[in-house]
Amino acid sequence: MLIIRLCYLLAAVLVAQPVYAVHTEAPAPEAASGWQTQSEVRAKQAMVVTANPYASQAAQKILLNGGSAVDAMITAQAVLTLVEPQSSGLGGGAFLVHWQQDKQRLTTLDGRETAPSNTPSDLFLDKDGQPLPFFDAVIGGQSVATPGTVALLWQAHQDHGKLNWQTLFEPAIELASTGFIVSKRLATLIEKDQKNLAKDANSAAYFFDNQGQPLTAGSRLTNPSLAKVLTELSQQGAEAFYQGRLARAMVDKVANAATPGHLTMQDLASYRAQAREPLCAPYRQYQICGMGPPSSGTLALGQALGILSHFNLATLGPTHPQSWRLIADASRLAFADRNYYVADSDFVSVPVSELLDADYLQQRAALLDKQDTALPQVEPGVFLPLLARRAPDRSPEFPSTTHLSIVDKEGNAVSMTSTIENGFGSRLMVEGFLLNNELTDFSFRPEHNGVPVANRIEPNKRPRSSMAPIMVLENDQPLLIIGSPGGSSIIGYVLQSVINILDWGMTPQQAVSQAHIIHRGGDLELESRGINLALAPALQALGFTTRFTELNSGLHAIMLQPKQLIGAADPRREGVALAADE
Ligand code: GLY
Repeated sequence: MLIIRLCYLLAAVLVAQPVYAVHTEAPAPEAASGWQTQSEVRAKQAMVVTANPYASQAAQKILLNGGSAVDAMITAQAVLTLVEPQSSGLGGGAFLVHWQQDKQRLTTLDGRETAPSNTPSDLFLDKDGQPLPFFDAVIGGQSVATPGTVALLWQAHQDHGKLNWQTLFEPAIELASTGFIVSKRLATLIEKDQKNLAKDANSAAYFFDNQGQPLTAGSRLTNPSLAKVLTELSQQGAEAFYQGRLARAMVDKVANAATPGHLTMQDLASYRAQAREPLCAPYRQYQICGMGPPSSGTLALGQALGILSHFNLATLGPTHPQSWRLIADASRLAFADRNYYVADSDFVSVPVSELLDADYLQQRAALLDKQDTALPQVEPGVFLPLLARRAPDRSPEFPSTTHLSIVDKEGNAVSMTSTIENGFGSRLMVEGFLLNNELTDFSFRPEHNGVPVANRIEPNKRPRSSMAPIMVLENDQPLLIIGSPGGSSIIGYVLQSVINILDWGMTPQQAVSQAHIIHRGGDLELESRGINLALAPALQALGFTTRFTELNSGLHAIMLQPKQLIGAADPRREGVALAADE
């Protein structure tokens, strides 16, 4: 403890990186597609909330047929690959937080994509050593990491599946064969991304009509290639994806792209989902639990909430500018540490327990207590020996992603966030699904003034994520399951929703629908509606640089009460909560 305090006191002296304008405020290219009024859904025993009605309905059926939460998750993910292809799929990665009711046990499974084994550290630098423009890096083969979602689904089924693996793919195979109706959201995103999608012949053939025009909402779309892939996967298990025909097709696609990448058959054959210890951080009488590194999501949330636990937000309430001053600056402090220290802990030392240490967070909270205006400057704490210092990470982030929350009738629960990174990933379509661009979640610069960046590219490393599939526990029992897409904004979306529910007593639907206010280390970003119209000038007067912007979350929550479940889907996307009671 003393060492932590001493290190922290030395922070101002040791941290010699004056520039902290980290590029964390990229707009989400998976753009808004309209507001859809949502009502709370209640169930007695079982419930599913996913980002798309087809996926929720298919998962609901699995639950009604006696499937476990994990079975329903596998079915939902297979359907989402088809109907929400821009956000997640077989070609991406995911994190799972799982509650096993009979053993009263929380576990996490890391299906994050990995850097192919021959990925160079300067992958995203131009010939002058400067970072590539973001979309030059994203589109094509060089951004494709070894996908992890299929391995996660397979492992989760080995651990927690009840129904036969093969049956879980039937709904997606049926839909891919007979066709699904293109949603307004998918059509909007195809239309907005048509220039990029046109760069891959397979994507163009799939997402454009015979006249070369983007598909419109209401069109029926079949995907026979994906139906074949899902059939093989359902019959042969995960090996069908990581070896043989499909693996060869992915490797060839990446190698033959206009900007070729590094994926090999060996990378695919050796990919494994990793079981990791869940990361839990206290907040008032609750535990906030989720995925540790390589995700920064739970850690940043835990830090921000640990700081905020020193203030009485309940008394201040959601309309008081001081509440938002505290939330914004707690978030800035958490992001300063995140950008400096957090990466794949299999490759770099991440001071997780130090970052969540109660004394450290009290000292960070004291910074907010000293004044009632915005902190003029925010710097990371210093924990590592001088020689192991890290340089700040300036990764741009343009997110996509999806979140699903499920509870089965036995009380098992799933919180899974799944991604192919950018909207439509690398835009490379192979065998009916899109390949991720997850390598762009690494820092483009491996070092800064000779000092290494924690989240630099290294072979076989997993890029840092912000995904925060969360379970809030009270008295060691799940109380709330929540998560969202949104890249680094995920942290702010989940933070705000958790405070809305735990401190301000909002219902899950009120919580996910509330106008967002988030701070990722640059401007204070606000959705332009509701109370935010009054809060923005007040927060500006407190010293924040405020900016109205689209904050396109996809929060999907289930609250577990003694005799009922309450589900909520984000009105900003097309998700649906469905009860699955027998
Ligand atoms: N690619 C989104 C995330 O991992 O945060």
